[in-house]
Amino acid sequence: MAYIQGFGGYVPQRIMTNDDWAKLVDTSDEWITQRTGIKRRRVAAADETTLTLAVNAAGMAIKDASLVPDDIDEIIVATDTPEMYTPDTAALVQDMLGCRHIPTYDLGGSGCAGFIQALDVARARIAFDPKQVLVVGVELITRLMDWKDRATAVLFGDGAGAVVLGPHPGRARLLDVVTGTDGSAAGILTLAAGGTRNPFNASSLESGDYQRIIMDGRRVFTEAVTRMSEAVTELLQRLGKAVGDVALLIPHQANLRIIDAVQRRLGAEDDQMYVNVQEYGNTGSATVPFAMWEGVQTGRIREGDLVVLTAFGAGFHWAAAAVQF
Ligand code: ACO
Repeated sequence: MAYIQGFGGYVPQRIMTNDDWAKLVDTSDEWITQRTGIKRRRVAAADETTLTLAVNAAGMAIKDASLVPDDIDEIIVATDTPEMYTPDTAALVQDMLGCRHIPTYDLGGSGCAGFIQALDVARARIAFDPKQVLVVGVELITRLMDWKDRATAVLFGDGAGAVVLGPHPGRARLLDVVTGTDGSAAGILTLAAGGTRNPFNASSLESGDYQRIIMDGRRVFTEAVTRMSEAVTELLQRLGKAVGDVALLIPHQANLRIIDAVQRRLGAEDDQMYVNVQEYGNTGSATVPFAMWEGVQTGRIREGDLVVLTAFGAGFHWAAAAVQF
């Protein structure tokens, strides 16, 4: 049994609108809105890093759980935009929060599915050894992406979300998680430079490959809709529930058209869908925990609600989780 004890969410102050983007690249509010539903996104300030975003959200989740950093027994940080190459961001989060010398690790590279995958790992760790696990989803994408590539840059924003998952009854119970991977589709969404296959060097610097997100947008779109719908269906079947039993579905916020297509496939009603992509764009592994925190804060999520989370990400990974409030 694993229970969410507290929620946290953080986005930087600076708002960047579609019109702001139109001043930098050949795009328009109309194109971005029609294709993605995104109107605004947040951009980290110069003195913010992945670590500070993560610690802001994590600190809120710990406080919300009525705990202090000393109470945390393990930290998992899901991110594709780490503070540095080595060590992992989780180690730095442990230090900045002032936690004990506990195990910490990153779940990196799995794109936007990382947070739900991390929930799955955390619940297994809790089943093995009852403990309080801090799970963070964080991305500071705007500092690493290519600002001249209109096809990808306008999609993203910065943010963080966090939960504390523990063995004792709390705010909500994590009922079940479904995850999967199809590595043969790795090439449809990748940032391939910087690793051993294509190290960061003068040539990747000159070509700009080190910050170029290679994305087959249409393939990603199709895979995202199929995999998230199937993951939610499998999850509900395992729980003996129907779509009508779900109070709120929180899908990864990448694109409004993807969210609409998932809704249609599942036969869900408008009021069952959580959508904030218009405000924040795609904040990677932060979209799902941030939306859950926002839903709790605003009273959209209420006691008794069955909430289903689902996400997809580079890999190609997918995941879905059921949370009973
Ligand atoms: N502004 C104006 N024109 C643009 C822009 C832009 N920002 N970006 C691309 N275009 C142009 C292209 O150059 C292309 O022009 P061309 O036809 O002359 O070559 C055209 O628009 C592309 O149009 P479409 O292919 O019809 O665009 P589509 O409807 O497929 O929308 C999009 C593109 C938004 C990327 C869509 O495919 C999509 O959302 N895919 C999923 C992307 C996604 O979710 N990625 C996830 C990122 S990471 C993660 O979440 C795990």
